[in-house]
Amino acid sequence: MRRQTPPLLLINIDQLLTLRSASHSAGPRRGPALRERGIIENGAVLCLGGKIVSVGSMKDALRDPWLRKNRNKVTEIDCRGKVVLPGFVDSHTHPVFVSPRLLDFEKRIGGASYEEIAAAGGGIRSSLKDVRRAGKRDLVEKVLAALRDMAAHGTTTVEAKSGYGLSAESELKSLEAIREAATRWPGTVIPTLLGAHVVPKEFQGCSQKYVEIVCKEMIPQAARRKLAQFVDVFCDSGAFRADEAEQIFAAAEQHGLSVRAHLSQLSRTPVQQFLRFNPASLDHLDHVSDDDISALARHNTVATLVPGANYFLGLKEYPPARKMIDAGVPVALATDYNPGTSPTRSMAMVMSLACTHMKMSPEEAIAAATINGAWALRVADRKGSIEPGKDADLAVFAVEDYREIPYWFGMNRCETTVIGGAVFSPQ
Ligand code: NIG
Ligand code: FE
Repeated sequence: MRRQTPPLLLINIDQLLTLRSASHSAGPRRGPALRERGIIENGAVLCLGGKIVSVGSMKDALRDPWLRKNRNKVTEIDCRGKVVLPGFVDSHTHPVFVSPRLLDFEKRIGGASYEEIAAAGGGIRSSLKDVRRAGKRDLVEKVLAALRDMAAHGTTTVEAKSGYGLSAESELKSLEAIREAATRWPGTVIPTLLGAHVVPKEFQGCSQKYVEIVCKEMIPQAARRKLAQFVDVFCDSGAFRADEAEQIFAAAEQHGLSVRAHLSQLSRTPVQQFLRFNPASLDHLDHVSDDDISALARHNTVATLVPGANYFLGLKEYPPARKMIDAGVPVALATDYNPGTSPTRSMAMVMSLACTHMKMSPEEAIAAATINGAWALRVADRKGSIEPGKDADLAVFAVEDYREIPYWFGMNRCETTVIGGAVFSPQ
């Protein structure tokens, strides 16, 4: 029998960032709304049955008739001198891999580019062998270790892509590993099929045959077995062409799956022609054009920026976040956790990069890492802000001011993570 989560009360919170918006317009946060923190000083949050039931000042909490009667039944966390915010929503990760790519790392230090390394047999294709050979149980352990570490860094919802198997069998095995890991982790996992990550070696020169496997085998099976909610495509030089991405999106649509894409990371790729598929998110966008920015500003598709990849590839340029935000594009931040371009599980590190290299303000970075991540995964009705009725997913940071979260880079100041109204503990 499942035990009911006991009531949990967070009290004396120095800064409670609810991320509640004063504006009533539904949809992802954009422009000035991306700076709204919904801050309460000396705040309290009450969680019951895994949900948030009340949010307000300590004064209000102490007056609450239910609490006055039941305080002895409630577990309390004293958050004096601390900041509480919604658990991070990491809306772009690739956790199903076996080994770090240390050879690529060293080659890049020696001056080779991501594309040169991939062309010489490194890159995504070099991660396939391990994953194809691995038993599902080993993959589950890899994914679970990543999820636990993410939770220790304050992340409570994670999008997880397949994409290092690149055969119907090993892509489905990867999705099964994600599903199994998710059952052993209290947070929320949103699975994505990225069968179209690159064309595997055995299909080089006949990519259409591979696209057909993605469309006619991987997508129908993933949909029928409910192994994925989204289908992703890496559309860029060295990966898939725009017409191939369209075929894959059409197949996803036909099977009732939503879409998202890696676009404009390495070179300028088309953006606007994909908007007709109503993607939840388009990601990377390093080389996005002004025209594309104007089009994105008119849509609810989220632009998910992943500056960890720019940092780790040692690039001088970062996606034009300032330009996008000022034009009204809804922007999210994610780790892009993967072995090739972004081996980090820390949303705080990504937020730090967003502030220092993309000139996002700490407030914008926080909204992009919480509520807009939730929009990018279409779970904003239950995630991404601290409001009555939403899931009780919270991060407690041992800092006095929320701006310290991106300020202290490369260290973890998350002290407690609450998932579904219960304190997360790694084991
Ligand atoms: O998001 N761009 C495509 N996919 C990953 C890289 C994957 C890898 O190099 O293993 C990314 O950066
Ligand atoms: Fe990625």
